[in-house]
Parts: sequence; C-alpha cells; structure tokens
Amino acid sequence: MSITDSNRLGLPNLGLGLGLRSRHYDYLLKNDPVVDWFEIISENYMNNFGFSRHVLEHIASIRPVVMHGVSMSIGSSDPLNMEYLRQLKELAAFVKPAWISDHLCWTGVAHMNTHDLLPLPLTLESLQHVSERVNRVQDFLQRPLVLENPSTYMEFSDSTLHEWEFLSELVERTGCGLLLDVNNVFVSGHNHGFDPEFYIRNIPHKAVVQIHIAGPTDCGELLIDTHDQPVPTAVWHLYRLAQQLTGGVSTLLEWDANIPDYPEMVIEVEKAKRVMNGEVPEVPVFQSYQADVISNPVDHQMQVQHE
Ligand SMILES: [Fe+2]
Repeated sequence: MSITDSNRLGLPNLGLGLGLRSRHYDYLLKNDPVVDWFEIISENYMNNFGFSRHVLEHIASIRPVVMHGVSMSIGSSDPLNMEYLRQLKELAAFVKPAWISDHLCWTGVAHMNTHDLLPLPLTLESLQHVSERVNRVQDFLQRPLVLENPSTYMEFSDSTLHEWEFLSELVERTGCGLLLDVNNVFVSGHNHGFDPEFYIRNIPHKAVVQIHIAGPTDCGELLIDTHDQPVPTAVWHLYRLAQQLTGGVSTLLEWDANIPDYPEMVIEVEKAKRVMNGEVPEVPVFQSYQADVISNPVDHQMQVQHE
C-alpha cells in the first residue's frame, strides 16, 4: 500500500480496493483480503449490529475502510436529514473511515425516498444551495465531505453550468473532496454527448481523493451504469488519464450485480496496475437490448441491504 498525500485534502492514496459485499463475507472471514482497502455502503451498516457489523469490525481491524453513502440527498430541496447525519457520524466513530463520501444528487423530496440517485439542475442557484448544505454537513461531521459525480440519463434545460464546472466551483466554495467515477463520466458523456476526456481534464485534480471504476451496459440509446460487467477498454483509458492528472489516488472497483467470486474481483481490480503501465485490456462495452435491463438499472441505492 502506498500512502502519499496526493491531494490537497491530505488524504492518503490507499491503493486498490473493493466494495465490501455480503456475498463475500464468509470468504473474507477465512481468507486474506489481498486488496489494500475496502469501501462500505454506509446505509448497510447504520443501526445494524448483526453479523454485518461483526464482519465490518473484522475488516476494519485489518484494512483501511472508507464510508460511501447513497442517502444524504445533498441536492434536495428538503431540509438536511439530521437524524441520518447523526447515524452516519455514529457509524464513523466506529469505523474510523479514511473519509466519507456521497453523491452529487438528490434522492427524494417531501419525505419520500425514490431510492435513486437523481440529477439536479446545474445552475448558480443550485450551486449556492448545494454549497451551503455541503458546508453544514462538513461542520456537523467535522471532516471534509467527498462527493461523487453521478451517472445521469437526462439533463435539465434550465442548467447553465456543465457538471465539471459545477463541481469545480463547489470545491472552490466548500473545500470538499471529489470522488471521480470515470465510468460515470463515460456513461454520462455518451448519454449527453460530451467528451469524457475533456470533463476529466477540467475538474480540480488536487481535490480528487478517490476514483471509481466499473462496467456499464450498452442498452441501445443509453449507456446504463449497471456495475455488473468487467471494466471496458474506454473506461480503463479514462482511468489512466485521471491517475496521470491527479498524481495517483485510491482506486475502487464497483461490482454490484451478478457479483463474481472474490478472487475474480481481485483479478479485475488488479488490472489497474497493468493499465498504469500502458497495458490496457481489450474489453468491449457489454451490450444488452433486453427491456428488463433498461427498466431496472442497477444503482448504488438498490444495493442497500439490511442483514
Ligand atoms: Fe461510483
């Protein structure tokens, strides 16, 4: 594990990591995890003191853990959910995560949870709104918040800022960190017709503390962020570019449906080492034109399980 302060938040490069998923609990209790660190979906462990908490305690005792949430709803017009934030802070006191992340999105309004990561209009008004909320969350958690760029399937005609401009200004106003999901940039770039390389070149690289890689699905008109395939060549190229521009930050492979056995997950994430040596694997984007895939895109929220 290489630990270097490669970003302006002073957060370490943890190396190559995997998401902690219940499918791998038994394996991980009996075997060396091999990878450098783990990311948990925060909501799966909040107010959960059963077997999952036991596994988490074991993992946290042998590897760094990062908390990744899906319910903060930082872009919503609802008031911040202080009970959610209290539980998040309580979990952080137990996990002692290297950092806490969530998404630039909203997940509900009027006390309804859509269980999806929804895009927001990117305007100066929404920027002001989100900036104020990020500052309040950071004050409450007493640490910087790290926000991930979402994959999106629609845009608002009212938007006046590109996503990379919005994130850059958000970092400037709040000092938050960025979780750069290069697969999401690839998916959104395809869906909205922007150049994903241009996006990655135009975010504040020193604010990036983590990268997500994943495999999407080509459903015809849209790419969907399914997290159920190997990382395709195009995403690996974006990953390499992002690592060169950031100077090297923590890397996390997301795989949330049709999850392979643990050793296969390790093989997939370790491809990142060869990619950084210029050996980019030839992997096409998985194509599926089945209606059920289009109507049931897998997202982070759908992975929330209480065990
Ligand atoms: Fe992601």
